[in-house]
Amino acid sequence: MIKIAVLVSGGGTNLQALIDAERQGVIRSGTLSLVVSNNANAYAVERAKAAGIESRVLLKRDFPSQEAFEDALINTLKEKGIEFVVLAGFMSILGKRFIDAYEGRIINVHPALIPSFCGKGYYGLRVHEEALKKGVKVTGATVHYVNEIADGGEIIAQKAVRVLKNDTPETLQKRVMRQAEWIILPRATEMVCKKLSKTKGENV
Ligand code: GAR
Repeated sequence: MIKIAVLVSGGGTNLQALIDAERQGVIRSGTLSLVVSNNANAYAVERAKAAGIESRVLLKRDFPSQEAFEDALINTLKEKGIEFVVLAGFMSILGKRFIDAYEGRIINVHPALIPSFCGKGYYGLRVHEEALKKGVKVTGATVHYVNEIADGGEIIAQKAVRVLKNDTPETLQKRVMRQAEWIILPRATEMVCKKLSKTKGENV
């Protein structure tokens, strides 16, 4: 079993989808072992508690630099033996320090069809506001590996979602979550865990 950490900042509906997927056996090659939030008030932390998953809060403002924050994050994960990191609504860009420590072992869910509406500044509701402004008829979600370019890593899964005439950013966000994010994130998590457990087996 691959030990998974989920990094969160907000409501944690994607975390909930992962918790449900583990219960339902969709995720079976890994186990949700730790939730880390960079926001003390994130409801995601309550979801972790309710599911009996250990959680930590790490605030960037408690550290003198981005590097120091990332070092603390790496230490927290390594202490728990974390092998795979899922960014599920984690609203902070991670730098080289962290990416090097978990190279090829970090994935992220983004609420648009990359390469549309992605990169620095495109997060949360803002993504859907921009999609509506542009007048796209189809949007969706993407799960991708995380590298040093914001939303630039290799794409693992995508799912399209129709934009409706009367959509607001909020209604569109909800539909993209329900029809795409909550489905592809657990599946991609299982896929990568399976791959990582195979390489782990080969290295024994
Ligand atoms: C989700 O829509 C996720 O795709 C997005 O934030 C939301 C978090 O919701 N992430 C990004 O925009 C990252 N660039 P949640 O906390 O309920 O999972």
